Formats: sequence, structure tokens, C-alpha cells
Amino acid sequence: MAPATDPVVTQKPSTIVSPNSITIKKLAESSQVTFVPSNYTYTDTPQYEAVLIDNEAKVPIVDFSLLTSSSPELRSKAISDLGKACEDWGFFLVINHGVPEELMKAVMDGTLRFFDLSEEEKHEYEGKHVLDPIRCGTSFNASVDKVLFWRDFLKVLVHPEFHFPDKPTGFSELSSEYCKRTREVTWELLKGISESLGLEADYLDTALNVKTEGLQIFIANLYPPCPQPELALGMPPHSDHGLLTLLIQNGIGGLQVQHNGKWVNVDAVPNSYLVNTGDHLEIFSNGKYKSNIHRATLNNKATRVSIAVPTGPSLDVVVTPASKLVENGHHPPAYVGMKYKDYLELQQSNMLDGKAILDRVRM
Ligand code: OGA
Ligand code: NI
Repeated sequence: MAPATDPVVTQKPSTIVSPNSITIKKLAESSQVTFVPSNYTYTDTPQYEAVLIDNEAKVPIVDFSLLTSSSPELRSKAISDLGKACEDWGFFLVINHGVPEELMKAVMDGTLRFFDLSEEEKHEYEGKHVLDPIRCGTSFNASVDKVLFWRDFLKVLVHPEFHFPDKPTGFSELSSEYCKRTREVTWELLKGISESLGLEADYLDTALNVKTEGLQIFIANLYPPCPQPELALGMPPHSDHGLLTLLIQNGIGGLQVQHNGKWVNVDAVPNSYLVNTGDHLEIFSNGKYKSNIHRATLNNKATRVSIAVPTGPSLDVVVTPASKLVENGHHPPAYVGMKYKDYLELQQSNMLDGKAILDRVRM
């Protein structure tokens, strides 16, 4: 007898019965699903609809080895490239970052093994509160999402304290090392960004207490093949809440970023990080570096896996635009201060909707 939680699908898309807690992996593997059920059919919100796809635009590339170079000329060129990428795109690829390719592959492999655990095993990690250290689930926030997203996720708080699921074997150790290495790359990028804003290299870190207390999250996303990929989304248009998000994927594309009012498909250069600027960099830079809007699209052939690792301020810091950037009344602050913890709770407990939470702190 089939377990009671099996999705029941008949001929019509509107007749799916799918409890919120069922993973999309299980639903997609069910051979009966040859169409997108109505509760997964996504219609663009007017704010983000009908932006043409631009396949020509060239995503900026930041060469990390130049950023850490001992040559002042090379370093200042890298800082200026980084600042430009933040200002023009809010998105860039980082190459030559020094994180071993084998480590990236191993953590990707661990992620696949995690999603291959049984539904019951994954259920053990189903967090209830948005700040629970380990949270496994489907869609974004299935209890409030009006439309469900074709995505399963694992979200783990990994800094300042490291948490991790104890299954599958070895995944926690690999991820601990991966998060540490990713953190170091992020810190170096934030130093360069601080300088690109005309501030001292450590100014951002000191103001937001990133290195000691900054929140780092390990987010694994699984997007199984979708029978009608144009009708559903893996993640809706949104910006990330933190400062920077470093993302890797399993060689399958699907990420689109907004640039000059168009969607741009981004393909990773092998062994690179795909980096988004987040809302708290927009706030800190007083609007100079706008957080990037992006979304995850689907395909009908292969399972896509991505690992997004955002880094943000300390949860206890009330983030305001950098005081040095708003001095003299020339540039009045454009955002009111809010504690990062409150911001995060607001963003994670609502539907994911573009920059809706950032709009609340905009003056
Ligand atoms: C995210 C995200 C995009 C992707 O996890 O915040 O935007 O391509 N992911 O998986
Ligand atoms: Ni994102």
C-alpha cells in the first residue's frame, strides 16, 4: 500500500494533492507527473515581468589573485574592477580564488548524497523557526508561499557557530572546511569592496562585525527536472539579505540575474564562484551598490544543484549606511537602521518577493 503522503495526481493539473512537506524530488520522481501542477504554476509579478532575456551581456569577472597580489598597481586595478562590478551589476564571477576544486566537487557530491537520504531522514532536519540552525524543506516558505517553487533546500547556520546535519557520513567535515575557505574569500572581497567605496579596508568588517560574529549560511538547493520548465520557477525574483553570496553549481545552468532591466543567463566558468551583492551591502553603501535581483529557472533534462553561501553582518548589529559615506550632509542616509536579525526574520518568514523587505527600510 502506498504511504498516505504520496502525491495523488490524476489527468488534470488542478487535481494534485500535495502536502506542503513533500519534497519536490519525490514529486518529480513520481512517473505520473508529466505536467506542472497548478500550485506550482508561476506568473510573473508585474514588477519583474517580461524583461527580455539578454544573452549577449558579459558578466564581469573578478580575478581574486590580483586582489591579493603584492603589486599595488594590480591590487588597485582589481579593487576598481570589483567596485565597478558591484555598481553596474551587483553580480560577478570570481576566478583564481584558491579554494581547491576537489573540495568544491566533494561538497557538491555530499549535497547530492544529502538529498538522496530518505524522506524520513530528511524530515528529521525540518526546522520550524527561520533561525533554527538546521532547516530542510521545499519551495521557499511552503506555509506562506502562494505558489510553490520547484526546489528542495537545506539551510544551515555555519558561522559564528558551526552547525550541520550528521548525515550523510563525512558531509559535515567537508562542509566545515568548504565554509571556512569560502568565508576567507568573502572577507577578502569585502575588504576590496570597502576600499572601493573609499573607506579603509577593514572599515566594513569593523562596522558590521563580520569576521567575529558575522552570519554565514550554507544553502543547498536541489532543482529536479521539470516537465514544463517554462511554467514554474526554482526560486522567484529576489535579492539576498546579506552582504555577499558565493554560489557554486553542478555544471547545470539556470541562474538568471537582472541587469539593465533584462534577465541575463549566467553560466559559471568552471571552478569559479558566482557572486551576488545583497541588501545589506546596498544599505551599508547607502545605495551605491544595489543588491542584485536574481531567480532560478528550470530545465526538463537534468537535476540542478547549487550551493549558495551568504555572509552577512553580526545578527546583533543595527545596520545603517556607513557613517563616513553620509557625512557632511552631502549624502543623507537613504535607509533607516534595522537590526540584521529582525531583517532576516522578516525576509525569511514572508513570501520571497523581489526587494519587498528592503523597501521597508528605504527612506
Ligand atoms: C539563493 C539563490 C539561486 C540558484 O539560494 O538565494 O538565489 O541558482 N539561488 O540556486
Ligand atoms: Ni538568492
